[in-house]
Amino acid sequence: MQKLELAQNKLKQYNQEEILSLLDRLDENEKEELINQVLKIDFEEIKKLYENINKKENKEETVTPVESIDKELLNESEKNTLEEIGLKIIKQNKYAVVTMAGGQGTRLGWNGPKGTYKLANGKYIFEILAEKFKDFENQYGIYPNWYIMTSEQNNKQTIEFFDKMNYFGLDKSKVEFFKQDEIPVLTSEGKLVIENNKIKTASNGNGAVYDALIKEHIIDDMKSKGVEWIYISGVDNIMVNYIDPLFLGLTVKNNMQIASKSVIKGYPEEKVGVFCKKNGRPAIIEYVELTEEMRYSKKPNGDLVYGDANIISHLLNVNIIKQITEQKLQYHLEVKNGLYKFEAFIFDGFKAMEDMLIMRVKREEEFAPIKNKEGIDSAESAFEIYEKNNAKNMI
Ligand code: UD1
Repeated sequence: MQKLELAQNKLKQYNQEEILSLLDRLDENEKEELINQVLKIDFEEIKKLYENINKKENKEETVTPVESIDKELLNESEKNTLEEIGLKIIKQNKYAVVTMAGGQGTRLGWNGPKGTYKLANGKYIFEILAEKFKDFENQYGIYPNWYIMTSEQNNKQTIEFFDKMNYFGLDKSKVEFFKQDEIPVLTSEGKLVIENNKIKTASNGNGAVYDALIKEHIIDDMKSKGVEWIYISGVDNIMVNYIDPLFLGLTVKNNMQIASKSVIKGYPEEKVGVFCKKNGRPAIIEYVELTEEMRYSKKPNGDLVYGDANIISHLLNVNIIKQITEQKLQYHLEVKNGLYKFEAFIFDGFKAMEDMLIMRVKREEEFAPIKNKEGIDSAESAFEIYEKNNAKNMI
């Protein structure tokens, strides 16, 4: 059967008449592009996602609190031992950093890859992230490979930016880009949306990282280089400490395959996910999905019961990525400007493991997220934390 006919049949079957009629109006090149787009879409999946929106999930789920290890409570000799364990692994090149930069940064109001945003000191977010590798190199003469996840929408721009900036002095062969998947957005009637004669799609959430690491052969590349551990974080936390021997040492010492850092949740309404267990398995519940009870319940000492906040600083053994992708991650719905967007969350993959380690760190030392244009979690507030720390380190 011809590709056109196949596409037409699919569109008819799934009641996407508007796209069908658009096909007739396009010139040959645009038509070809649209047909290819249609043939790539998993309509059955989209249909199910839409049908499930208003269905109350009836899953039996028991949520329980978890304990974290407070880094501050480790003594100097413990810290030194752990650091040595971690350093050894990093120096042997068995450690790599993954930065997830496939999001759209709409809240920041920046029309470009988030990492290309310039801060008050004239430095770009990517530049600040790159400096962390340089700092490590200055100290130890070596630095880990850096893998950056982009999306269809910002891949080209991101790579061009790195080229223009000469990779901020990093060795180009140590920086690799890979693309995450996209998924169509839907109207409230379950219809696909047309934008610039194409079907409008959006990145499908940071949970896409697992599939992307495999599909784009990043895991193969890592394995060929001997990488055993990866630290996955977001692009928007300029205080992220992703070359952290102590954290790696603690994880290895505890025989864990997966670990993550937390900070004490600032206040019940803070827009952060919190660590917990779901049905006895490691999990994080995102801020939009917390029940009122979970949001506000306190321990007798006044601390929040679910008080360890996620700062997207996840450490994983390379070997568990495949295992995580064997279970399909659920999509979460987000309604943005009247359109339905579906996103998978990276931490939903944690349930593939029986247990994980959580290390609590000081917020001012490792968490300064840039999410919004102004106010809380803005470039300004994050920069303030960053500057304060730099000043402290100078003393
Ligand atoms: C995220 C966390 C939240 C945490 C908070 C801390 C998730 C799902 N949520 O919330 O639990 O407390 O940060 O700041 O991890 N990204 C992609 N591709 C996508 C979507 C996002 O690479 O398709 C990247 C973004 O570029 C960003 C990171 O993932 O670096 C976080 O994404 P975002 O959607 O902004 O999450 P938050 O709502 O801020």
